[in-house]
Amino acid sequence: MAVDLLLGLQWGDEGKGKIVDVLTSKYDIIARFQGGPNAGHTLEFDGQKHVLHTIPSGIFHDDSINLVGNGVVIDPVIFKKELDNLAKHGIDYKSKLLISRKAHLILPTHRLLDAASEASKGKAKIGSTLKGIGPTYMDKTGRNGLRVGDLEMADWQDRYRALADKHEKMIAFYDVDVQYDLKELEKEFRTAIETLKELTFIDSEDYLHKSMKNGKSILAEGAQGSLLDIDFGTYPFVTSSNTTAAGACTGLGVAPREIGEAFGIFKAYTTRVGSGPFPTELFDETGEKMGRIGNEFGATTGRKRRCGWLDLVALKYAVQVNGITQLIMMKGDVLSGFDTLKVCTAYKYKGETIDHLPFNIEPENLEPVYTEMKGWKEDLTKMTDASTLPKEFNDYVEYLERELETPITIVSVGPDRSQTIQRS
Ligand code: IMP
Repeated sequence: MAVDLLLGLQWGDEGKGKIVDVLTSKYDIIARFQGGPNAGHTLEFDGQKHVLHTIPSGIFHDDSINLVGNGVVIDPVIFKKELDNLAKHGIDYKSKLLISRKAHLILPTHRLLDAASEASKGKAKIGSTLKGIGPTYMDKTGRNGLRVGDLEMADWQDRYRALADKHEKMIAFYDVDVQYDLKELEKEFRTAIETLKELTFIDSEDYLHKSMKNGKSILAEGAQGSLLDIDFGTYPFVTSSNTTAAGACTGLGVAPREIGEAFGIFKAYTTRVGSGPFPTELFDETGEKMGRIGNEFGATTGRKRRCGWLDLVALKYAVQVNGITQLIMMKGDVLSGFDTLKVCTAYKYKGETIDHLPFNIEPENLEPVYTEMKGWKEDLTKMTDASTLPKEFNDYVEYLERELETPITIVSVGPDRSQTIQRS
């Protein structure tokens, strides 16, 4: 069977956790392929809210296997907290959680390096979640990293020491004030490593191939969004992994021909957390209202998210780069009560009107061109059937489908599992 993908098409926080959770019953295996604890996937059901960072969002379903793939970076300390939280809710995670031996480990000094690097950038800072993501991927591509499989080797502690010592020298090089007590951090790290070692480590690419041969269905769960991709995002204000479809191939070891459906998930408007250009950002009461109604605060850092109108130019780009076959629109309910909705359909860029994402989307080079649409008044949050959705909402969705040349098969009208409407 093929591997289906679920990918965020904007700057992250599209609601992937909820949709994976909704789709999980159709899949035997849910696999994360990139990112790490910078992600915050929120799931709500039975009146409870859960936030996952590194663990795949299928963990709450009894019958699904959850795999942390080779492309993911794992912070054992944060991972342990997630496991402890699952145990508190009575989830037997050990029987359904597998970890790739090739996944890289985030060391305490990676987090410190992240803090030092950001502090040294001053106003040009990325707005990183400071979870050590950038430094860990740098060690991976620099061929210095420690991987989960190394924990099964006799010399891992020596290799850890050598790397942490090198990191300490690098922190000093930054010449910024980063206070830390490494002994304390290492104590916590070692305890967490022992917990990690109780889990099942596997050669995950082999496992996935055998699973496919045996007819198992697999969903690859993306983290962050396409506009944060290291290659295709708004560089340098991006994360350090490939968040797009290609990342699922390298982050799990599946071939491009084995990819089936590519579900692309987007919000009915746009948000961004952290620094970087955002052409349709609103600085007025309308943006404030979206943030308030949409409860736009980061699940990992609690930071307020920047809000703005839907950017169709950026969304088309993400649909193309990922080869999206079906779209899922989130948070349509947040736009209820706006008299007029705006959608950015082109940019004025250096004196020309263009309909693609250019190299540089800094505000001084670019101005969005908007199309206006009539909004809807109805509260969507209690609706469960497509036939009850208001005309103006359907007009909005159908307009996007036409422009993106891709069907919108699911619309979400609230955070709970039950607030999900399938369109035919
Ligand atoms: P980092 O990956 O933590 O270094 O963060 C790099 C940039 O990506 C920052 O602007 C973050 O705010 C953003 N970012 C990282 N992970 C997420 C996410 O899961 N959702 C939204 N933004 C994210």
